[in-house]
Amino acid sequence: MTTPYKDGFAPVSEEITAFDLEVTGRIPAELNGRYLRNGPNPLSLDDPSAGHLFLGEGMVHGVRLRDGRAEWYRNRWVRSAAVAQRLGEQPRPGPVHAGMDFAANTHVIGVGGRTFATVEAGALPYELGYELDTVGACDFGGGLPGGYAAHTHADPVTGELHALAYYWGWDHHQHVVIDAKGQVTQVRDIPIPDAPMVHDFAITERFVVIYDLPVTFSMEHAQAGTLLPYAWNEAHAARIGLLSRESGDLRWVEAPSCWVFHTLNAYDDGDTVVVDVVSYPKGFVDARLDAGGPPTLDRWRIDLTTGRVGQTRLDDRTQEFPRMDERRTGLPYRYGYTATTRELHDVVGRGEVELEDLPDEAFDNTLIKHDLERGTQESRRFGRGAYVGEPVFVGAGEAEDDGYVISYVNNPARGAADLVILPAQDFTGEPVATVHLPARVPLGFHGSWIAD
Ligand SMILES: [Fe+2]
Repeated sequence: MTTPYKDGFAPVSEEITAFDLEVTGRIPAELNGRYLRNGPNPLSLDDPSAGHLFLGEGMVHGVRLRDGRAEWYRNRWVRSAAVAQRLGEQPRPGPVHAGMDFAANTHVIGVGGRTFATVEAGALPYELGYELDTVGACDFGGGLPGGYAAHTHADPVTGELHALAYYWGWDHHQHVVIDAKGQVTQVRDIPIPDAPMVHDFAITERFVVIYDLPVTFSMEHAQAGTLLPYAWNEAHAARIGLLSRESGDLRWVEAPSCWVFHTLNAYDDGDTVVVDVVSYPKGFVDARLDAGGPPTLDRWRIDLTTGRVGQTRLDDRTQEFPRMDERRTGLPYRYGYTATTRELHDVVGRGEVELEDLPDEAFDNTLIKHDLERGTQESRRFGRGAYVGEPVFVGAGEAEDDGYVISYVNNPARGAADLVILPAQDFTGEPVATVHLPARVPLGFHGSWIAD
């Protein structure tokens, strides 16, 4: 079996706890909390789950910062019942939706003072303790009628956390709202045929923006076992749903045919809804992750009068993992941050290639800061083997880019990862601090800064 878990994605085999980490530079004193990041880390490369990048068991890597110190690093597998059993532990009690007990591997978020590892497509989130031990699967006291979602968006004005849940056995998707205290306050069913994958979505002040794109559930892939059960489906027309947050009214408009994993941000602009996404020409074209080409940063302008969607390219460089200052989620904004990781895009964007065949200069490990008002970018390059991760913005002062961009970056000289803390306003300058972790952090998916 070929496995995508090699090079930057190669899993780690141990759980580590390390205290008082070595730091170069000075950790800003206002950073009190944890930087957590989730990603797939198969228990064994001989397992079927090691055959697909989206199926490996979730492992969360965390660093706690306090009073200018890096207090600890921990990495922990999410204990689904199967993971607990393999590790010789008792399974944690908790609900299971549709028999889909899965070690959530996609994101890790803070909700109402609690920590959750999340995943989409039918499984429930797993709650983690402060030090990343698994508490158990969570349906928010029965508030979630089905599974949850990998990606969520918090409204910075109302404090509501929005999600779109889906599951192949449903004829609808579900819009779920959780309030700032962690209570499910609203569940709306949205009829959508063909059970499409909806990895991410967007919110504005007025709308929840739903991407119903031509990647739909595939029984053929499901039966293959080692494949993701979703595939490109030309028969499924691309469209964008605008769900009124106030009335629940839903309007569909025709969308550009493409595939989108991730939203940068979206906002209302008079009679237009602006949605910024990382888009691929297609998705899941063959049995793996082929997207028909590399991803680009694009802007959709949805004209509410005509129902037409205009598309412009904000940056044509290959990039992913868009993040921004989440104090501006759903609101007009100026700055975005993305990562370009050659290893990732060769797996996701163009099918698998042998990395040994690529020249050094092909390894483009770069974090990008986008100024969307000026249409300019600043790039901070790291070297071959740096495996830059998702850039998470942490606000400090009032200004939109007054804060830090943090990411795990592999240090090939040490054979271990660094937590790099960049000043967002001096993006190509020296990091304000680099925390030297005692182990590798494989390339993974998404994470959060969760302030204490
Ligand atoms: Fe994602």
